[in-house]
Amino acid sequence: MNPDHVLATPEDTHTLGRELAGVLRAGDLVVLVGPLGAGKTALTQGIGAGLGVREPVTSPTFVIARVHRDGRLPLVHVDAYRLGGAADVDDLDLDASAEESVSVVEWGQGLVEHLADEHLEVRLDRRDDDVRTVRLVPHGPGWAERIGG
Ligand SMILES: Nc1ncnc2c1ncn2[C@@H]1O[C@H](COP(=O)(O)OP(=O)(O)OP(=O)(O)O)[C@@H](O)[C@H]1O
Ligand SMILES: [Mg+2]
Repeated sequence: MNPDHVLATPEDTHTLGRELAGVLRAGDLVVLVGPLGAGKTALTQGIGAGLGVREPVTSPTFVIARVHRDGRLPLVHVDAYRLGGAADVDDLDLDASAEESVSVVEWGQGLVEHLADEHLEVRLDRRDDDVRTVRLVPHGPGWAERIGG
């Protein structure tokens, strides 16, 4: 996959999520990094669509984590915005299902990386003209191979 993307519309964000879903495997951890409104949830919705999730993927801000089981792989969607630290993450007990699932975490930088041997960091940004930029940053040899550089 191309590591760098310029996304002019929400549909473009959705399309990138669907493309990313195509390379996802059970046990994967994807950490979405970017400011408020950057498109983290929109990207996750595209990932959900690519995995074949039919139920709506909405921002899990008030429930922190939601599992969608109706796709090719279970999608664990986490919003870590309100979590205080790594201890809170462990309390969510995400490990239990992480091996069979794809975990996508908004606001998880510095909190969830320990949950998997390697992970994909997705850096989203919002330019002044509202266009979004995305960079895929592999952490670990498996992801480096899948993303290339
Ligand atoms: N490429 C894009 N161009 C323009 N707007 C976009 C793009 N991608 C997403 N958006 C829009 O940006 C808005 C915020 O998106 P989204 O809720 O996904 O952001 P977020 O990063 O999850 O925000 P939060 O930090 O609140 O969780 C939505 O209205 C979405 O449709
Ligand atoms: Mg969000």
